[in-house]
Amino acid sequence: MKRSTINRLMEEAVALLQRWNFALPPFAFWSPDDWRGKGPECDEIRRNALGWDITDFGLGEFESNGVLLFTIRNGNPADPEGSKPYCEKIIVSKPGQRCLLHFHWQKVEDIINRAGGVLAMRLYGSDETEQVDRSTPLAVSLDGVRTEVPAGGVVRLGNGESICLEPGMYHEFWAEGEPTLIGEVSAVNDDAADNRFADPVGRFPEIEEDEPPLYYLCNEYPPPAD
Ligand SMILES: [Fe+2]
Repeated sequence: MKRSTINRLMEEAVALLQRWNFALPPFAFWSPDDWRGKGPECDEIRRNALGWDITDFGLGEFESNGVLLFTIRNGNPADPEGSKPYCEKIIVSKPGQRCLLHFHWQKVEDIINRAGGVLAMRLYGSDETEQVDRSTPLAVSLDGVRTEVPAGGVVRLGNGESICLEPGMYHEFWAEGEPTLIGEVSAVNDDAADNRFADPVGRFPEIEEDEPPLYYLCNEYPPPAD
């Protein structure tokens, strides 16, 4: 992806979040210049990979297969039972754009339709070899209501509604109708070791640096200044 595209996507995301009165914390808006002066007091942001995050799953088709999100808080993946055993993210999703089918070995997560359009989510169980189980229905909690979903069934969530995904549940999701703010509240997020995609995918996009970054991505922060 071009850096200029990522910058524009960040600006669009900020505008959408503002439209729905969803305010981000101060570090969301620290420029590369601001980061130059930040010391070890900001290590929680660096170590726990807080902040802006984008993936095109290595497919180079961000508009159809991609996720732009902001990690608001997260524990330390190296110490998941530590002082902050939880994570919160906000995902900005446009209609037609999918987060590809995956499950987590460890992380329990609630995915929440915060505002905008409809959040559609396709679900499967997984078998003992971690493959997609295309025949067994699964029981999920929708805002505290246990609900049976057929294998490959699509759950559609309106604003304010959420689903709880347990480890081993395959899920892919997308927005319908209009851009949608999708919240995630979960156990500690560890993208390096806790994402099992049904098909092998890449993580961070290849970036073509055609202009300076507006804001760093969560894997780009410079080391602490002296
Ligand atoms: Fe997930």
